Amino acid sequence: MAIAEENELRRTAEEYGQGHIFRFWDELDEAGRQRLLADVASVNFRRMQRLIDQWVLNDPPPESFKEILPVDAIPPADPDREDSREALREGEAALRAGRVGIVLVAGGQGTRLGFDGPKGAYPIGPVTGKTLFEYHAAKIRKLELEFGCTLPWYIMVSATNAEPTRAFFEEHGYFGLQAQDVTFFQQDMVPCVDDEGKFLLETKDQLAKNPNGHGGTIPALVDNGIIEDCRRRGVDTLTYFQVDNWAIKPADPYYIGYHLLRGGEMSSKVHRKHEVRESVGVHCVCDGEYRVIEYSELDLYPQLLEMDEHEEPVHYAGNPAIHMFSVDFVDRVYHDADNFPWHRAYKKVPHLDEQGKEVDPKKPNAYKFETFIFDGLRFIQHEPVALEIHRLGEYTPIKQFEGSNSVVQARKSQNRYWGDWIEAAGSTVPRNAEGAPEIDSEISPLFARTREEFVAQSKGKRWPTDKSLYIDEHGEVHRAEG
Ligand code: UTP
Repeated sequence: MAIAEENELRRTAEEYGQGHIFRFWDELDEAGRQRLLADVASVNFRRMQRLIDQWVLNDPPPESFKEILPVDAIPPADPDREDSREALREGEAALRAGRVGIVLVAGGQGTRLGFDGPKGAYPIGPVTGKTLFEYHAAKIRKLELEFGCTLPWYIMVSATNAEPTRAFFEEHGYFGLQAQDVTFFQQDMVPCVDDEGKFLLETKDQLAKNPNGHGGTIPALVDNGIIEDCRRRGVDTLTYFQVDNWAIKPADPYYIGYHLLRGGEMSSKVHRKHEVRESVGVHCVCDGEYRVIEYSELDLYPQLLEMDEHEEPVHYAGNPAIHMFSVDFVDRVYHDADNFPWHRAYKKVPHLDEQGKEVDPKKPNAYKFETFIFDGLRFIQHEPVALEIHRLGEYTPIKQFEGSNSVVQARKSQNRYWGDWIEAAGSTVPRNAEGAPEIDSEISPLFARTREEFVAQSKGKRWPTDKSLYIDEHGEVHRAEG
């Protein structure tokens, strides 16, 4: 970096009260200095100052709304309804025409799962040990074969996991997909700040930073040329999901159809909350604007805790983080980036103290700033399009190994889902007193995408269910050891 640029960066940092980040400059070799300068050059100081003023040096009161209405969701797709059949036709036509691309967000830090590697490399299959990435890829491949199309797959990573994620795909031959149709793109990082609004150093030549949240998808899609790539390929619709949802239907034709028929800017799937305090965001309409209110904010808005006459939550629409947007919408929101809301979280952030000693805090000590993809819904100009789903077979978020939203629960849920398929095909699955399957089952998404297809493919077969089994893409059965 030229001296003039270096001086300019130092001046900017000083001007914004962050000159201390050059504290160890004299101890750095040339490579270290260049690393620090590159890191500082990537900071948007004006925006950081705005966030610090708003969220750190002040403690703004929560927003208040005159009226919060439940979102009016489309009931789960059902081939017996004409509206669903119409959506299916529309969605399938869009897939056949190559209008659909897939966005996967995999840039998070995965701290709660504590897995050593990208979350998508987690071996989720209880019989096969197949990873989340392999399952997602198989589902995409199946759709491509079925609809005779290419589904470009755009995978968002961050500085925390970009290299290992790319390497994992290379190592596994892109799981049978064409490498030119799998694109990794990197989201931005933002500095963490302490209680005084000062940036922290992770090392002497690097700021402590965090990925800018899944809302970072919007700018990253544009800045990394993904939107251009979509336009080149004739893709106008992007489906969005999170890496830790093993059960995802990555490009569900019903959902695509409803989205296109009803406005096609940004749409969402929603699921019925089990109980009013369930820890999921809630889709609702606040003073006329479509919002998702985080579960941590439920107590700020008592309306969200109301029950109806059947003792069911009035605000039933939980957020499984499955969205869809048009390429034009991403572009529009990108150009309105200054209005995209930011959120803060107070977290433990390891850093160096003034003497350069490593501090590993035992309690939260710094703010992380993030944007959330669901805030994109605030920008839609049409009626909300929310499609209700049954959680089973669509939503198994994996945040930790055990407990709620865990690996253990996800496996139970998939066993139940695939167990139902196997029984629908005429075989019996051993079940315990609560009706839960006593064996693990896995079915390759390449063998069947839907229950109907599985039943059709099973004609004349009896699946051996005395112990755990995996049915591969050719319908061959593999048994668990022991
Ligand atoms: P979570 O908020 O659950 O975060 O992300 P996480 O990284 O998986 O786990 P914790 O909170 O550190 O334990 C939901 C989805 O959004 C992606 C994640 O990769 C996951 O697919 N994400 C999150 C990003 O891509 N970037 C981010 O900055 C944050």
